[in-house]
Amino acid sequence: VRSDFLDILRCPDCGQRLALTSEDGHGDAVASGSLSCPAGHTAPVVRGVPRFVDSEQYAGNFGFEWSLHDRTQLDGPDSRESESSFRLRTGFTPDDLAGRVVLDVGCGMGRYADVAARWGATVVGVDLSLAVDSAQRNLGDSPRVHIAQADVLRLPFAEATFDYVFSIGVLHHTPDTRAAFERLPRLLKPGGRIAVWVYSTARWPVSDLLRRWTWRMPRRLLHTLSHVAVPKYYVDRLPVVGVASRMLLPVSLHPRAEWRVLDTFDWYSPRYQWKHTYQEVRPWFEAQGLVDIRVLSVPVSLQGRRPAEP
Ligand SMILES: C[S@@+](CC[C@H](N)C(=O)[O-])C[C@H]1O[C@@H](n2cnc3c(N)ncnc32)[C@H](O)[C@@H]1O
Repeated sequence: VRSDFLDILRCPDCGQRLALTSEDGHGDAVASGSLSCPAGHTAPVVRGVPRFVDSEQYAGNFGFEWSLHDRTQLDGPDSRESESSFRLRTGFTPDDLAGRVVLDVGCGMGRYADVAARWGATVVGVDLSLAVDSAQRNLGDSPRVHIAQADVLRLPFAEATFDYVFSIGVLHHTPDTRAAFERLPRLLKPGGRIAVWVYSTARWPVSDLLRRWTWRMPRRLLHTLSHVAVPKYYVDRLPVVGVASRMLLPVSLHPRAEWRVLDTFDWYSPRYQWKHTYQEVRPWFEAQGLVDIRVLSVPVSLQGRRPAEP
């Protein structure tokens, strides 16, 4: 954790500023230590990351997923896929984000925080799971990225802290998508914008049926089974047989084999995986007083703005 993160962090219990005591590391790079507020609430810093939760709770499979696939979806010289996906699901542009303070809710291993930082934003990534360790390894050296382990329902920030907030593929993995969403608009500065992408109802029902068992399986076994997506891709693309195969056992059809394994595990491993429609989510934005609501092209993604103060 670096000292400039302390300007953004607040005690999740009482909202006061936090002070950092270092046990290891120095100056601008404290690897272990603790944060405390004047009221005596504390949070440890472990492996360079402030931790505002005691455990991963229901998100342990995500911690496992992002430790195995810590760089699979990170943009590199030969792929800008996360950047394109970010544009489609948020509607944000480099001009929007440059020089702004941005929150990535449920950052996983940090692929979208990476995009926002490349675009010139100061980015805070939070996640409930140990994915934060992968995000910290991937992005912790960037002076514009800060990572914390925290629950969307108990975030360590004051109201009106961020210019932009986004959450991509996360809120539907909490016990209550709407309740999680409702924590976010207040974190925007007046005039700030929020974008979220949640799963749409247009998904194969059979995978929901299978997930009743698969999310409880030993993680390594489910991950090994997810490798079926590697060869199945070629069957699924055949004319008639492929349609039947896709209906019986949906798996990722991403052209890259490693993404197929990751996405298939990601699909079958979550404890919670709610599905939504635009008709349902748009009123959530309205009820929070957000304006300029834009429905984006990838279902179900929307963007809205907190009104500027009069
Ligand atoms: C499918 S992953 C998406 C990660 C990242 N946004 C991406 O698209 O690469 C969902 C993430 O949400 C996180 N998550 C689930 N519940 C959460 C909560 N209550 N608070 C914060 N993060 C949560 C999980 O740990 C997981 O890393």
